[in-house]
Amino acid sequence: MTGQSNRVIPTQKLTLDERGSALSLSEALKPVASGVANGDLVVFPTETVYGLGVNPYIQASVERVYTIKGRPCDNPLILHIASMDGLSELVDVVRDEWWDLAHRFWPGPMTFVCPKASRVPLWVTGGRDTVGVRFPSHPVAQALISRCGVPLAAPSANRSGKPSLTRGAHLEELDGDVEWILDCGELDFGLESTIIALTGDHPRLLRPGPVTLEQLYQIIPDLEIGSASQEALAPGMKYRHYAPQAKLFLEEQEEGLQSDLLGLVKRIIARFEQLDCPDKPVVVICTDETQRMYLSQGITCISMGSRSNPLSIARKLFHVLRLVDELGYPFGIVEGVEESGIGFAIMNRIRKAVDG
Ligand code: TXA
Ligand code: MG
Repeated sequence: MTGQSNRVIPTQKLTLDERGSALSLSEALKPVASGVANGDLVVFPTETVYGLGVNPYIQASVERVYTIKGRPCDNPLILHIASMDGLSELVDVVRDEWWDLAHRFWPGPMTFVCPKASRVPLWVTGGRDTVGVRFPSHPVAQALISRCGVPLAAPSANRSGKPSLTRGAHLEELDGDVEWILDCGELDFGLESTIIALTGDHPRLLRPGPVTLEQLYQIIPDLEIGSASQEALAPGMKYRHYAPQAKLFLEEQEEGLQSDLLGLVKRIIARFEQLDCPDKPVVVICTDETQRMYLSQGITCISMGSRSNPLSIARKLFHVLRLVDELGYPFGIVEGVEESGIGFAIMNRIRKAVDG
C-alpha cells in the first residue's frame, strides 16, 4: 500500500463548535451523516484524536480507509458507538461484568476488545473474531454516529506510522482524500484511547491511554499488562508508530531522581553537542520547566508543555512531533517525563516515536 490514494475528492469542510446544542449539531451533521451512511469517508473529532470514519458495513469504503492510511489489512479498526446499546449490536454475548466496565468508563477515552457478533464484518476486524468498541464522549462524534444510524469504524486519521492528528491545522493532509472533514480545533486528550482486551481470563491492557493505570487498577484489580503476547493481541502495536521523519533520541529521567531536571538537561546538552552540526541541526523537545536552560545555551528547543500539568503535554505531544518535521530538523532529542498518571501513556508514545 502506498499511503496515498490516487483519487482527488472535493472535500467538504465544516468547522463546528462542540458546545452547540445537540439539536443544532445534529442538524449541521445531517448531510455528512447521510453521506457517510452511504459510503463517504469523514474525518471527525473525538476527545482523544481525530478519527477517519466509515460505515463498517460497506466493504469498498472500508478498503479506502486502509488505502488512504497505508494501513496493513491485518490491523483491525475500532467501532465507535453513540449509546450503551450499541455494544450488544457488535459483541456476541455481553457479560454482566463487561456492562459494569462499560458503565464505569463510557462515554470516554476507553476501548474494549470483545468477541465479535457475527454481523461485524471481518474486513473491519482484520480477519479476527474479536472487535474493539468505543463510545466516545465528544459531542460531535456522538451526534454524527447517532445520525448515521450505524457504528463508525475509525482508525486514527493519520497516515500509518505518523503522529495522530489532534488539531484543526493537521486536517489539511486529508484534503482531497475524503468527502468530509469536521474541524473542532484542538482536542481534549491528544492521545489515543486506552484499550483493554476482555477476551482472556483476565482483562488485559493492550494500549495505555488517557484512562490511567491508577484509575484502571481501582476498578480492575486483576488487570494484566505488558506480556509477550501483547503484540499479537493488538496487531497495531507491532507496527512503526507516531514517528516523524526526523530521527529522535530519548533521554530518560533517571529512576528515583524524578526531580533532578538539571542532571537531565546536562545530559541532553552533552548529547546535543555530540550530534549537532550546521548541515544536520538538532532540536530539543523539552518542557516549560527546562526551556530557558536550553535557550540560555543557544540551543533551539520546542516545549511539549508543563511537567506540572501532564495533560498539557499529552495534548501537545503529536503536534510537537509534527512541528519537528515542518521546521525541517533531521534530529531531535526528547526529554523523558514522569511515568505516573497520563505520563505512562505519554512515555509509551514517545518510546514508539523514538523506535520508529
Ligand atoms: O482514541 C482512539 O482509540 C482513536 C479514536 C479515533 O477513537 N482511534 C485509534 O484507532 O487510535 P487506531 O486504529 O489508530 O488504533 C487502534 C488500535 C490498533 O493498534 C489496533 O490494532 C487495535 O487498536 N485494535 C483494534 N481492534 C482490535 C481487536 N479486535 N483486537 C486487538 N486489537 C485491536
Ligand atoms: Mg493510530
